[in-house]
Amino acid sequence: MDFELDDALLTLQATARRFADEEMVPHAAEWDQQGELPLPVLEKAWELGLSHTGIPEELGGVGLPVTAAVVGVEELARGCGGVTTSIISNDLALNPILLGGSDDQRKEWLGQCVEEFKILAFCLSEPGAGSDVAGLQLHCERDGDDYVLNGTKAWITNGGYADLYSVFATLDRGSRHKGMCAFVIPKGTPGLSPGRKEDKMGHRASNTTLVHFDNVRVPASQRLGAEGEGFKIAMATLDRARPQVAALAVGVARRALEESLAYVAERKAFGQPIGEFQGLQFMLADMAKNIEASRLLTAQAAWLLDAGRKSAKQSAMAKLFATDTAMDVTTDAVQIFGGNGYTKEYPVEKLMRDAKLMQIYEGTNQIQRVVIAREVAKE
Ligand code: CAA
Repeated sequence: MDFELDDALLTLQATARRFADEEMVPHAAEWDQQGELPLPVLEKAWELGLSHTGIPEELGGVGLPVTAAVVGVEELARGCGGVTTSIISNDLALNPILLGGSDDQRKEWLGQCVEEFKILAFCLSEPGAGSDVAGLQLHCERDGDDYVLNGTKAWITNGGYADLYSVFATLDRGSRHKGMCAFVIPKGTPGLSPGRKEDKMGHRASNTTLVHFDNVRVPASQRLGAEGEGFKIAMATLDRARPQVAALAVGVARRALEESLAYVAERKAFGQPIGEFQGLQFMLADMAKNIEASRLLTAQAAWLLDAGRKSAKQSAMAKLFATDTAMDVTTDAVQIFGGNGYTKEYPVEKLMRDAKLMQIYEGTNQIQRVVIAREVAKE
């Protein structure tokens, strides 16, 4: 067991940290206020190899193992949670191609993402089916060599900007997970259109929209995996992606701790810096302890994935623990800042708003508990 980062990981960490400090930290409050995705920043992250990191080297990608990807994501998230959500959603959406696609499909669709900057969106959730994936209603009907898709997806990160959509649909609305199919669909396919953009509480720099499918005709060659394999591709994708959300939560929580440490050294009360009070020291100690535990759980889930081992339980544990920690740590940071923390003049209220979403997306933390409970019962 080795907890040291090797030279390659230290370089990746330094690159991501510099990128966050230079490109994100100075602008994060403005992006948050405007609620707009800063596309040039995403493209720059891609140029530096900090986005789309899961595309294998043999396809021309950076081919980062998950253990490395999470190191980069933690650093980026210190800069801006919303932009980092948009960045990791590219990897989320390319996973169905990676995990469910044939060699030819991987070459075609992932190859495109290496040649030029492409934004991807993972289309699983629907207005009436978030936690209950098997209850999704987007319908796909076979018609000759094509499928015809009808329905609406909801809460789609990057929905308004995506060049490629990975999409989950059902052949038969009553068949639950057994009828599900996965597809890759490029922007511009007739009938596919982004819909309403959500006006969110946090992660406001990420773009979240409805996506409509109105008689969208998709060649069978764009189906990923066999008919009926869509559900398992979605679950395997989420197992692989959840450690990245955990890493994002660690980055947001770490930023809140760093801001708090600086503040308690400066702010004085009763004639001394407030950091001299044991009540605050204990809060800071708990923040640091839970951040460290979150990082270790994240690394363990990532390590299992890189070893090609089952990780549903550890991925869910990492996501659950790290995002609950981010919520607690950012809430405590606002408390430490007092009235100042509740204003937009200081960065911690944004961190608290950003933390909230992470307990909800990529499977609510109640769903993570369902996954963990089922896995431990099996064990
Ligand atoms: N890997 C592979 N196969 C799996 C699996 C996994 N992790 N989990 C389940 N399966 C298999 C089961 O073995 C079962 O297979 P058989 O039919 O062969 O027995 C089949 O899939 C059905 O499994 P379940 O009975 O467990 O399915 P369920 O309907 O009870 O649902 C669930 C399970 C875990 C609750 C699932 O619906 C789920 O994960 N829900 C949460 C969805 C989610 O995370 N959405 C996030 C959307 S993306 C997002 O938010 C991103 C963003 O915008 C940033």
